[in-house]
Amino acid sequence: MEPRVYSVDEALRANAEEIFELQRGFVNEKFIELLDSYRLLRQFVKAEGLRVWDSEGREHLDFLCSYGALTLGHNHPVIVDAVRRASSLPNLLQTAPGSMAACLASSLAAITPGGLQRSFFANSGSEAVEGAIKLARAATGRSRLIATVEGFHGKSMGALSMTGHEPFRTPYYPLLPDVDHVPFGDADALEACLRRGNAAAFLVEPIQGPAGIIVPPEGYLRDVRELCDRHGALMMLDEIQTGFGRTGRMFACEHEDVVPDVMCLSKALGGGLYPIGAYITTDEVWRRAYGSTEKCLLHTSTFGGNSLACAAGIAVIQLTVEQNLPSRAQEIGAYFFSRLRDLAERHQLIKAVRGRGMMIGVDFTQASEVKDRLLAGVPNQTASMICVHLLHEYDIISLYTFANSRVIRFSPPLVAEREDLDRLVHALDEILTRNDSVLKLASSTRRLLTKK
Ligand SMILES: Cc1ncc(COP(=O)(O)O)c(C=O)c1O
Repeated sequence: MEPRVYSVDEALRANAEEIFELQRGFVNEKFIELLDSYRLLRQFVKAEGLRVWDSEGREHLDFLCSYGALTLGHNHPVIVDAVRRASSLPNLLQTAPGSMAACLASSLAAITPGGLQRSFFANSGSEAVEGAIKLARAATGRSRLIATVEGFHGKSMGALSMTGHEPFRTPYYPLLPDVDHVPFGDADALEACLRRGNAAAFLVEPIQGPAGIIVPPEGYLRDVRELCDRHGALMMLDEIQTGFGRTGRMFACEHEDVVPDVMCLSKALGGGLYPIGAYITTDEVWRRAYGSTEKCLLHTSTFGGNSLACAAGIAVIQLTVEQNLPSRAQEIGAYFFSRLRDLAERHQLIKAVRGRGMMIGVDFTQASEVKDRLLAGVPNQTASMICVHLLHEYDIISLYTFANSRVIRFSPPLVAEREDLDRLVHALDEILTRNDSVLKLASSTRRLLTKK
């Protein structure tokens, strides 16, 4: 296919075939092949709340919601309106402080716990983490950084150095020097690592998301706080997935009444419309790193704090507070969790249900764990086979977690209704009743993928 220049009208009119061809030719061919192998190539043309519609008018329920980024669902009208109203403001002036960024920073300081006060704005989760890493080194004058095995913090070089999932790291060595990884949920291991000295910071997710929705033991974050204080290291929380009500509190650290020194944010903050990332820290840490004229512009970003992304963020926070979404997530999440637990009791293919609030993962039994010689050659992908059934038989969008393909993450908007959750539970129940072994599931998946 020859490249050509498009008008916006043409881009809006492009049909499914044209889009897939363009993606194959000019973006990531192998990813399109992968989607095609699961017959996932559908063109979606409209989205609202939990619902998205394809070009043939079929309604789907989106239980992935961009890895939990859509706490208010797709295209929330108040967020769309906020962005529209901010779109005539001057943007990216650089020499004048942005009004939207100023108000968003105040909103963040108002809803985050303790003395978290000063924000830095970037454009993605990874960039928020990059900023936090640099802040830690600049504020402490120390170089060592500690993160967790299988923790996920992004894929840019600094963030990837903190990410503890080996397959994402291997092709890019050498990464940042002086970074150690300790097992998640293990305060003793952290203490041993901190004792070696010179640690600028420990970065951790309150619940590991991409690793498969792993909830640490009760009291872990309190222990982390105490250990970081004792060893003079900053406690940095990655609340990029868990923030803004997802786990049943505004921020997941509030389950343990813990206040970090630095909190990394992104995903839900953009309301599903605009890319935005941020970290928020205390006045004291900020001053140690950047509290002088020479240092105040050491770390900056051209698009960080742009008016449209910040307008979306302001609207997200206002809606989250006004609608008390953390409480709603707690209440409806408990209902969802108990219904999924009930499925786990009745279906041997479910190994465990984990999570908090509306951040829930279902861990599936894998072929390798089933002693059946007929399964030789069937890939270790129970979760992806379930996703195929959910999509092709029930028009439900779902996906396994990034770094752990055994677990499907269900992260619907916090405004989802019980009937929507019931629809998913009912679909899973039927799939698992019809396919009560990995073998049956594998052959029905094959049928679905080869059906004309
Ligand atoms: C916990 C966590 N941290 C960091 C990131 C990186 O964010 P981004 O993809 O916006 O760079 C992600 C993305 O999935 C995440 O889940």
